[in-house]
Amino acid sequence: MSSYEDYTRKSKVYDKTREPVGILISVGAFAQSRTPLGEMTVLDAGCGTGNFSRAMLEHVGRIEAVDMNPGMLEVAARKMAKSQADGRIAFHSAGIDELPFDDATFDGVMINQVLHHLPDEPARGFPAHRRVFEEFARVLKPGGVLVVNTCSQEQLRHGYWHYHLIPTAADALRNRYAPLEDLAEIFSECGFTHAGAFAPLDAAVQGEAYFNPRGPLDEDWRDGDSVWSLVGEDERDRALSKLQKLDATGELETYVARNDARRSDIGQITVLTALRN
Ligand SMILES: C[S@@+](CC[C@H](N)C(=O)[O-])C[C@H]1O[C@@H](n2cnc3c(N)ncnc32)[C@H](O)[C@@H]1O
Repeated sequence: MSSYEDYTRKSKVYDKTREPVGILISVGAFAQSRTPLGEMTVLDAGCGTGNFSRAMLEHVGRIEAVDMNPGMLEVAARKMAKSQADGRIAFHSAGIDELPFDDATFDGVMINQVLHHLPDEPARGFPAHRRVFEEFARVLKPGGVLVVNTCSQEQLRHGYWHYHLIPTAADALRNRYAPLEDLAEIFSECGFTHAGAFAPLDAAVQGEAYFNPRGPLDEDWRDGDSVWSLVGEDERDRALSKLQKLDATGELETYVARNDARRSDIGQITVLTALRN
């Protein structure tokens, strides 16, 4: 379960603003598997409403999708009822640190924007992350491919224009994300060989909605990025009133453009790939 987000409520609006950004990089990574892509069995760890599963199912043989939130799983299962009936996807209510699968079950594992929801202790070297990667190593076949869709510290600092409205929450979110160097170290300690890091530069996690300068005024829009769940009431009120003032003085578009300027150089997410030793 997310340690700070109410996904039961968010499952109702999540798909309004979320896209499977980076999916083709993940497909390319899975193509390195010893098993032909179309025959691969893949785990989607923390599948949410199933956007990545649905897109990945166009390329791989079968997916086991796991999440702990019943609301998210229900939306995903509804969306993929036909694939479920065809036996190409199955959904499981479980924690990603204790997976209901035998050793060496999977050719590939993907985890998309989930790790920062773990209740973890950065000062102690992210033990909860380690537990999850040990579990992935257990359920992957030797040579199996791990794909981690996450964000770099730089992307979190400069890749999201609205984070500048809410600096305290943005800091709190950044502290929840393990830096990419730490993840690479965790990979090797958990039985993986780190293979690559790729950042798509042309896409926003919230899709077209991200570019709406008045988006943060709308609760459904804010629900599309969990940073807003870390915003206290005072910070939120200050942010929204600043945005309204910028709008009233005709400066809002310039504000957005200025704070979005680096996104096209660094992207919003990074896809890390690793191979099970
Ligand atoms: C930001 S959403 C990402 C969903 C999906 N991967 C996507 O990118 O669209 C995070 C998801 O991780 C799930 N989650 C968080 N911690 C979990 C855990 N320990 N075990 C299983 N699921 C977890 C949440 O319930 C939520 O659905």
